[in-house]
Amino acid sequence: MSKNTVTITDNRNGEQAEFDILDPVIGNSTIDVRQLASKLGFFTYDPGFQATASCKSKITYIDGDAGILRYRGYPIEQLAQHSNYMEVSHLLMYGELPTNEEYNNFVNSITNHTLVHEGLVQFINGFHNDAHPMAIMVGVVGALSAFYHDSLDITNPEHRDLSAHRLLAKMPTIATLSYRHANGLPPIYPRNDFGYIENFLHMMFSFPTEERPISKVAIRAMELVFILHADHEQNASTSTVRLSSSSGANPYACIAAGIASLWGPAHGGANEAVIRMLDEIHDPAQISNYVSRAKDKNDNYRLMGFGHRIYKNHDPRATIIRKACNELLEEMDTINQPMFEIAKELERIALEDEYFIERNLYPNVDFYSGIIFLAMGIPMNMFTVIFAMARTIGWISQWSEMMSDAEAKIGRPRQLYKGAIDLDYVPIDKR
Ligand code: CMC
Repeated sequence: MSKNTVTITDNRNGEQAEFDILDPVIGNSTIDVRQLASKLGFFTYDPGFQATASCKSKITYIDGDAGILRYRGYPIEQLAQHSNYMEVSHLLMYGELPTNEEYNNFVNSITNHTLVHEGLVQFINGFHNDAHPMAIMVGVVGALSAFYHDSLDITNPEHRDLSAHRLLAKMPTIATLSYRHANGLPPIYPRNDFGYIENFLHMMFSFPTEERPISKVAIRAMELVFILHADHEQNASTSTVRLSSSSGANPYACIAAGIASLWGPAHGGANEAVIRMLDEIHDPAQISNYVSRAKDKNDNYRLMGFGHRIYKNHDPRATIIRKACNELLEEMDTINQPMFEIAKELERIALEDEYFIERNLYPNVDFYSGIIFLAMGIPMNMFTVIFAMARTIGWISQWSEMMSDAEAKIGRPRQLYKGAIDLDYVPIDKR
């Protein structure tokens, strides 16, 4: 019996089989159960993949208990402090921090792919005028494959690279076109003399008649939001991208699938919920009522933006973004606005109150990003869109990693069948 194995015994008949333990460089070991069915006739039951590693990956590492998040081995704190979204994108996609030359080539390529086919603008204009920007995003990003079919051979590394650059470059253009269409605003085209983040904010807020300058503090806060949301391991939308691309589907369709998954309230909608909560509390005098409700065992009310399923120590992203949030609020002179007053007071209570301390219910990244977006005047229906833009590089990097993984297979989970068996058909007049 080898040491690096696990033996599974079927206690019903004493049958045994050995399975390899696969060791990661860091984190939990995994049992290689690929031959479980052929050796013992079992499948594993794991709804939501809570204990299942669906792939080997070198991109992102999370230790929720220790509050650690690393991209390609680099701590998120260092990247947030010293890097920018373009450099982080290069790191996630290619596995290395770029040299000067690599960085310039990368930025140049992204900058030169920001425009979209004019037919795509017409496509966006065809959506109903009250369409949610996420609904437009799902459709339009999927439709990119109809506009850029010169780069759809997923077995060709150059095609893959071109598709990846196009997706990253065009995402802010599509997102802001969707927003402007949904609000009856004229389209604003990207500018090659702006950086990635500045360009997004320019396309969001400027007018053909008037440039709206964006403050450095606001650009930096948004840059941090993008860096902190760039990747987060095998979450629902990333797994959706991997699963849909496992069949060989084109990257545009697969990223559209990722956007659809992210749209769900349990995934990308938390910062919107924070703003709705602040709006509902409305009056700072009401805060203690809501906090009491959140602490009451018989009331299922929860404070939005507090606690995290994985980060049980602290959310490292929240620690980073909190400072940028405070700087932005100071610059925006939000002191006497009740929503921000309520947010500050809730934060203070959560950091000082025994109930929240005991349960590790720290303000999470969504709490602060929601407040940052509110302070910048970004409408709520754009919150998840911003998340989708920032996460696009994570999705493409994970997709790209999967495309060059010799062990990758078409995703095909098994099931534990609990339905009827072997019924005889009954004609409709006899039922
Ligand atoms: N307000 C008040 N009490 C809470 C909260 C909250 N936001 N979150 C958890 N608790 C309590 C909960 O009642 C329980 O108390 P007790 O031990 O007395 O029964 C204890 O804390 C543990 O809660 P849990 O539900 O077992 O924790 P979980 O890990 O299953 O849930 C969570 C994590 C994020 C779903 C939850 O904290 C929550 O609903 N938070 C509010 C929604 C939110 O902000 N979601 C965004 C999360 S970040 C998303 C991302 O990174 O993509």
